Amino acid sequence: MKLLLVLALALNLIPAPVRYSPEKDKTCFRKEIASLEPWQQKEAYRITVKGKKVKVEAVTKEGKFRAKATLEQLKAMGELPQGTIFDYPRFRHRGIMIDESRSFKGKEFLKKQMDAMALLKLNVLHIHLDDSAGWRIESSAYPDLTAKTAWRVGRTYHEWEAGKYKFTSADDPEGYGGCYSPADLRELVAYAAEHYINIIPEIEMPGHSMEVGYAYPDVLCVLENGKRCTGAWDLCPGSEATFKLLEAVLKEVMDIFPSPYIHIGGDEATMKTWPLCVNCRRRMEEEGFTDVKQLQGYLVRRIEAFVRSRGRQIIGWDEILETGVPEEAVVQSWRGVSGGEKANAMGHEVVMSPNSHLYLNYYQDLIRKEPRAVGELTSLRHVYSYEPVAEGMDESLVLGMQGNLWCELVPTVEHAEYMLYPRAFAIAERAWSPASVRDPLEFRDRARKLVGVLRTKGYNTFDMDNESELAQSGYRTFDAFEKAKLQGSK
Ligand code: ACM
Ligand code: ZN
Repeated sequence: MKLLLVLALALNLIPAPVRYSPEKDKTCFRKEIASLEPWQQKEAYRITVKGKKVKVEAVTKEGKFRAKATLEQLKAMGELPQGTIFDYPRFRHRGIMIDESRSFKGKEFLKKQMDAMALLKLNVLHIHLDDSAGWRIESSAYPDLTAKTAWRVGRTYHEWEAGKYKFTSADDPEGYGGCYSPADLRELVAYAAEHYINIIPEIEMPGHSMEVGYAYPDVLCVLENGKRCTGAWDLCPGSEATFKLLEAVLKEVMDIFPSPYIHIGGDEATMKTWPLCVNCRRRMEEEGFTDVKQLQGYLVRRIEAFVRSRGRQIIGWDEILETGVPEEAVVQSWRGVSGGEKANAMGHEVVMSPNSHLYLNYYQDLIRKEPRAVGELTSLRHVYSYEPVAEGMDESLVLGMQGNLWCELVPTVEHAEYMLYPRAFAIAERAWSPASVRDPLEFRDRARKLVGVLRTKGYNTFDMDNESELAQSGYRTFDAFEKAKLQGSK
């Protein structure tokens, strides 16, 4: 077993396969996968190379597709080793989130990233389709969402912020932005299906929603003097207009996206206007609530029931745990890992995307050599060190893990690719390969080769040849690195 593992690591392949043996495997493939979970069987494959003959075994087209990715990578890296590769995934959710609200990059960009994702056996593309900086999906029920907020004044998010959040129209030659028509999105869904990727659409609520109130003010809170809270960050959970809009939009979203999961955001609601609002106060009285926070739970539960009545399951950021959440909800841990651990202990399925490890908008190397970013140093090695199943967690409820690329500071396609690669390689390997595969130095060698492959395919990756010693070490500060060197521990 140990020998086989070492050999598996010797292949120039990301994610590393479960097993590589230079010999022909004599066991029956179907027997070999019989003990795996059904979702693992679907993606399992075996490749046997003998001389120039290549044999692929899989029980589904998806399994064959994963095998094709393996062959494509090995060929691109210049080798097709003799013997047998046997492989299947550790997790069923292996994802990347892209924020299309703060900086709209469009259809061709997403298709290109799906090509890379398929090569890495990543299978979930979560698209953050709306936020205060702009609504990106045309709605026939609420056309002003895009007509009034999909274009803004200011090329970058911060220029827009500095200019006091001004939106403009599609025909303004100075306007920046864009949006997807239902036809564009159907094209993306079809492209994703061809690549065995599920697109999870996110419609953010009730926070991060300034643009919704700008387009349709009746979703905003109302003060006792009758004034609307113009410019508010949160939707009003007391107003029926809010639910009417959200349900209409979600219905359109579910018509376009076949995803079993629909992301409803749920993070960072400020709840500032709620205690002052006549509609929120009335809702609290009717429901017997004593704390405005309960209004967030009310909204999440009502939307969850709506989504579930249409045969889908919601995912929400980990804040949804704090205000009473239906047990069918999937919780996505982002404020570190504690939300995921807590949700897991409560019996929820979880997706782990902690900002402690998997935020791809965070610096990947020293501040002085990188484009402006945020957060603590989140180097390739640091991402690779992440283990999504902490001690005590029930692995069967961990759907998987995901890297999140927020785009406030990522205005271009080239910049987005720079932030994504090679860190997406580490996410792919941790999410697909057995937990025991985790030698960071050996992984770095493979990552450098694969960066070369992506560059020849026209991706603008981070330059691994100029990665600082600190980033390569996996430590996050010079202090910690120096201390470790003194102690001779790394
Ligand atoms: C988040 O990063 N606010 C989910
Ligand atoms: Zn209100």
